Amino acid sequence: MRGHRLSTLVGIGAIVLTLSTSQADTPTPSHPTSQEADSLVARGYALFNDPALSGDGQWSCASCHPSFGHTDNKTYVGVEVVADGDPTGRSTPTLWGVGTRKTFSWAGTAPSLEANIKSIIVNRMKGPQPSEETLAALVAYVKTLSYPPNPFLHADGTPTDTASAAAKRGYQLFIGKAGCITCHLPPTYDKEGVEDVGSGGTFKIPSLRAVSQTAPYFHDGRYKTLEEAVRAMWEYMQRAGTSETLTDAELRDLVEFLRIL
Ligand code: HEC
Ligand code: HEC
Repeated sequence: MRGHRLSTLVGIGAIVLTLSTSQADTPTPSHPTSQEADSLVARGYALFNDPALSGDGQWSCASCHPSFGHTDNKTYVGVEVVADGDPTGRSTPTLWGVGTRKTFSWAGTAPSLEANIKSIIVNRMKGPQPSEETLAALVAYVKTLSYPPNPFLHADGTPTDTASAAAKRGYQLFIGKAGCITCHLPPTYDKEGVEDVGSGGTFKIPSLRAVSQTAPYFHDGRYKTLEEAVRAMWEYMQRAGTSETLTDAELRDLVEFLRIL
């Protein structure tokens, strides 16, 4: 699975690289074409990897979102790595699927993807105010970062026959008595807006797609494993007054389901 995903990502990289080289040789067309859109994406890819966006010339977007926009699994204040769980730290999200999201940043306060990226360049990377063109190219590029093909999920986010029995049981619990579906909606398993789940404030409802690869968990990276994060969410459901119970085996099935996302 990991190898498969890796080769898919390397494939995406190869396409982007091919675009950027072929664009260099191609004259600019006189009217908007899909080629122009491709060239915007290629410029965005180059900018994404360009440390000149940061004040000290040392940080590119790819420093923290390597492997074509994924996460380096670290928790930051600005560009400083801090201990996971530091209340001022923010865990680096994957950018896979970012084009499907409606709420950006853990606090959920960024009004748009453009505004979010602008604030990252100016406030986190201490770089110069980016031009409209730079922002448009970065937005176009990050929107191409889809979740890798997943043989365990149908397009609507439900498990395929290939998924293990434990994962399928976990899915039934997720949409059933565990109540997770109220906030984490398929196919992306997130929802617009923020919620207070007793973790120290209101935070966006994060997507659970690819969640097995995005540890540490929660806005401040306080949970090292998916098991701990799922237990914490279930404890929240209990505090919130659910009358259901889950056995340890059922909690394990829930985790098995999240692992195939
Ligand atoms: C020093 C590490 C670092 C660098 C460099 C960095 N990011 Fe991030 N990025 C983060 C962290 C940490 C967060 C979460 C911050 C928060 O939500 O408060 C984040 C969040 C995001 C988000 C929001 C995703 C979501 O689902 O809410 C986007 C989009 C993003 N970054 C894109 C970029 C782009 C584009 C660049 C380059 C211009 C960049 N990042 C540079 C660490 C970094
Ligand atoms: C009331 C809405 C709500 C419900 C219901 C809910 N969650 Fe969450 N979930 C959230 C929010 C908000 C966060 C982010 C909390 C934070 O970062 O402090 C989160 C975070 C998570 C994370 C960590 C993801 C990451 O990238 O860090 C996992 C895993 C998770 N939830 C699984 C579940 C499971 C399993 C259930 C059902 C038992 C569930 N959630 C029910 C709102 C909800």
